[in-house]
Amino acid sequence: MPKLKLGFIGTGSICQECHLPHYAAMPDVEIYAICDIKPDVAKAVAEQYGVKRVFTDYNEMLRLDEVDVVDVCTPNDVHSPAGVAALDAGKHVLVEKPVARTAAEAQALVDAARTSGKKLQVAHCIRFQPGNQALKSFVEAGEMGDIYYARAQAIRRRGIPAWGVFIDKEKQGGGPLVDIGVHALDTTLWLMGFPEPVSATGVTYRKFGDRPDVFNAWGPWDYKNYTVEDFAAGFVRFRNGASLMVEASFAANIGQNIFNATIVGTEGGCEMSPPRMYKERNGTLLDVTPVSLPKVDIYEREITAFLDAIVNDKPVPVPADECLITARIMDAIYESAQSGREVRISQTGGTV
Ligand SMILES: NC(=O)c1ccc[n+]([C@@H]2O[C@H](COP(=O)([O-])OP(=O)(O)OC[C@H]3O[C@@H](n4cnc5c(N)ncnc54)[C@H](O)[C@@H]3O)[C@@H](O)[C@H]2O)c1
Repeated sequence: MPKLKLGFIGTGSICQECHLPHYAAMPDVEIYAICDIKPDVAKAVAEQYGVKRVFTDYNEMLRLDEVDVVDVCTPNDVHSPAGVAALDAGKHVLVEKPVARTAAEAQALVDAARTSGKKLQVAHCIRFQPGNQALKSFVEAGEMGDIYYARAQAIRRRGIPAWGVFIDKEKQGGGPLVDIGVHALDTTLWLMGFPEPVSATGVTYRKFGDRPDVFNAWGPWDYKNYTVEDFAAGFVRFRNGASLMVEASFAANIGQNIFNATIVGTEGGCEMSPPRMYKERNGTLLDVTPVSLPKVDIYEREITAFLDAIVNDKPVPVPADECLITARIMDAIYESAQSGREVRISQTGGTV
């Protein structure tokens, strides 16, 4: 079987550190084309991997019939247009998280994948942690019973990104909620089985990001151009009666960073960090901790699963229609934060 030919759009940090090295180690694929709007970045990456086809405009790269698979690792504003263009050009697509800036952009990706019949996977790598895989298997075996409450948290004490465009609302769509909260939210919703959200209420604050006098563990950042929230919280109600709290922050006065997903059910509960299940047996409370979890690279796992879905025509493990639900929730939280009211979430897109 001929090797799958890969094209990359956006070859910055995540692409160089967590995507390209894994593809390069795989025998059945070829890193065929590279595109980055920064010519020096594209050139350096192309030289490192011996890639001859180098572009600064992804539309030109997508004209290459030879490219089978496109990996989108740009800032969030380019996820949807580049992903849709790649799907329309007949390529399979892996797109970095969050799926897009808004639910409308995510919907465009989902529609393009349906029309093209090509695979579209979102790079929610946290699902591939062995502890999370174990928790998911416990949930599916009914160990939690009826899940009626959950909590998703991604809170840094002082971790304002000092590089990239993570503090630019126009490019990212939001701040910690869409950048790190989305990881915790995706894991939590996945463990819950993606129930249908019906409403959300939310708040956002900017208390540190635009101030010059704040200590940041990650060094100086561009506080003058900080346009996103630095704290967001939301409360979500689902049609099945369950509810969820999400909290995300780049800077908050708390004791230590928190990155967690908590599930509360009638037969048990569980947490992601560290992976643990909480049960009752014969009148005794039990904490169940997985041991001997394999040490894996979650990015290698995610890429292997994506390629497996393409080669063996299987469903992708992180479908964009699940991420569309997450995007609707985040849209509603931001809208509620603006309006000060609870926002109803439409099943077909947008808020009502
Ligand atoms: N899965 C994870 O754990 C994880 C971790 C970090 C970042 N990410 C995601 O990866 C994406 C990129 O983050 P990063 O840290 O690599 O950012 P980065 O700024 O280091 O890299 C992004 C690259 O995209 C390029 N780019 C921008 N617009 C482009 C366009 N129109 N066409 C081609 N190239 C373009 C930039 O020049 C840059 O080189 C973000 O969406 C982020 O949320 C995911």
